[in-house]
Amino acid sequence: MTNESAPVRRAHVTGWGRYVPEQILTNADLEKMVDTNDEWIVTRTGIRERRVAAAHETTASMAAVAGLRAIRTSGLDPDDIDLIVLATLTPDYWMPSTAALVKEAIGNTRAAAMDVSAACSGFVYAFSTAQAYVTAGLARHVLVIGAELLTRFLDYTDRGTCILFGDGAGAVVVSGSDEPGGSLGISLTTEPQGAYMIWLPAGGAKSPPSRETVARGEHYIRMEGRETYRFATRTLASTALESIRRAGLEPGDVSLFIPHQANIRIIEAVAKGLSLPMNRMFVNLDRYGNTSAASVPIALAEAVNEGRVAVGDRICMVAFGAGFTSGAVTIEWTADPARGTAGDAAVRPGDVNVRLPVDWDSVDPIPPALAALMSRPDPLHIPLDDVVPGDPEPASVT
Ligand code: UT7
Repeated sequence: MTNESAPVRRAHVTGWGRYVPEQILTNADLEKMVDTNDEWIVTRTGIRERRVAAAHETTASMAAVAGLRAIRTSGLDPDDIDLIVLATLTPDYWMPSTAALVKEAIGNTRAAAMDVSAACSGFVYAFSTAQAYVTAGLARHVLVIGAELLTRFLDYTDRGTCILFGDGAGAVVVSGSDEPGGSLGISLTTEPQGAYMIWLPAGGAKSPPSRETVARGEHYIRMEGRETYRFATRTLASTALESIRRAGLEPGDVSLFIPHQANIRIIEAVAKGLSLPMNRMFVNLDRYGNTSAASVPIALAEAVNEGRVAVGDRICMVAFGAGFTSGAVTIEWTADPARGTAGDAAVRPGDVNVRLPVDWDSVDPIPPALAALMSRPDPLHIPLDDVVPGDPEPASVT
């Protein structure tokens, strides 16, 4: 990355894309693994099913597909990207960054690449980083990705966590411009007194991985559900409101909220806190569960592709997560929503290739509890050959 651009006033979303694995884990599947039931999960969370990455997939591979789709939607080439910022709490490795692996996988030769760690708020934090770079003139086009492979970090005997999470990736291209619209207001919070309410105890410097940490199950995500729920319902609406006010708007001016997809009751509480009807909240958690940093960009891409966003609409993306962190960004949409479907169809998972380590055999990554599910015959696969429409035209905002 070179500092070649002049400072600009605005950061616009010019591309968006998503990828979710094909394998579905339903509530009925979970009933066979742990003491739970579909009725409890649906009434307490709204989740009906979630996706599970296949053995050959990683956080980087999913991120690369979503990222390349976002680049195709924007009408840019991979080498137009100056910076890749990837939010995840499930990186492929402690080092190198997952963003570095994505850079090579999408065929970019010139971007700087880094990961951002802010758990489920990570995508909003990464977006704010992109905005800072483009408005400072340090980058013209930034690829912002949220990607998670959470199913490999879950204890499938802990019904308080394993029912909630799933895998996937979403991405946007943030481009600098003096055109009106784009990102209007951002609010970020961090409350470290909640640091141990959602955490993954072992594997870091405080508790390096060992037989003992594995025997204790300290390599799995742990969560105090009720405390986290209280934090979310207390903070999400206020963080969204702060970002909306910084944008010079009122909640009623926002046509669609893209909230972190953790729990339908939390999203209902946000709507209530902002005195807005639920039809202003985009919801897809019934199909994917909580995909942490990937949930907001997956939801954004689906909302746009489903026709829920028009040019000139104000939308607010808002998230919360471990840390405790929260973040919201209010934007005025400026890109042609119709571009997303073509961008998605232009990239297939086989189009990206994450480089594997030399002379190193990884162990089977599929958790034993999911082995039976993952050995089922391939789910229905609809070939895209007939509908590949070619490259979209370049985006109007650059
Ligand atoms: O991205 C951020 C990630 N975290 C979150 O968003 C989590 C926020 N928290 C939540 O979404 C909710 O707290 C949960 C969905 C995790 C739990 O819902 P809850 O309404 O807070 O339930 P609870 O923990 O108060 O448990 C109520 C009952 C308990 O039984 P008793 O003690 O009343 O007999 C639990 O043992 O439900 C039981 N329970 C379950 N029952 C069936 C807890 N998990 C399950 C389960 N299936 N999976």
